[in-house]
Amino acid sequence: MKIFIDTANLDMIKEINSWGILDGVTTNPSLVAKENTDTPTRVKEIAKILGDRPVSAEVMALDADGMIAEGKKLAAIAPNVNVKLPMCIESLKATKALSSEGIAVNMTLIFDPLQALMAAKAGARFVSPFIGRLDDIGTHGVDMLSETVQIIHQYGFDTEIIAASIRHPTHVLDAAEMGCDIATIPYDILKKMVAHPKTEEGIAKFKADYEKVNGPGQ
Ligand code: E4P
Repeated sequence: MKIFIDTANLDMIKEINSWGILDGVTTNPSLVAKENTDTPTRVKEIAKILGDRPVSAEVMALDADGMIAEGKKLAAIAPNVNVKLPMCIESLKATKALSSEGIAVNMTLIFDPLQALMAAKAGARFVSPFIGRLDDIGTHGVDMLSETVQIIHQYGFDTEIIAASIRHPTHVLDAAEMGCDIATIPYDILKKMVAHPKTEEGIAKFKADYEKVNGPGQ
């Protein structure tokens, strides 16, 4: 499974990039606003750090012509930038137009497998089902993700599924177990995915045992 970070914060992206596990970045208007900047400026900075790995940049237009124009501008920032569109009929039209010009689209705000199917049919390179926000309203987000994975994979669409709106490490575990292509994960959850109390305990024990015989180690 590919791992993306879901943030527009440059320090977080640089740190996770240094771990050697980062496959891409997703941003959205809320994440960019948190950094007190604008999408084109921030996406240019992120795209440079990422090299040839994908970065999602979301449009603000809500009509197909506006999305296409804005999407082209965002895609022109760097070859690794893909255009994030919010799921709706206008976005389907814009996806068809952008993808037929070779511009990758990430259809976002997916809450139903049929929305993902429609996006894939229109040529979306990525679809982003939101797990956590469904959990928030008492619906099992992971079940919706699992149905989406089953449908998109069984027809062999050239569309990768990004598990989005991830709230805890078990969301990532669920996505990995079902064979989801990608998870876009917040920084604090990426950190939790590395830590384990038994690992810390083991490191301390090995050090103590070593030092009993050899004296203080490094
Ligand atoms: C996905 O690309 C979105 O940026 C993101 O996962 C939204 O998650 P949230 O529900 O935590 O805002």
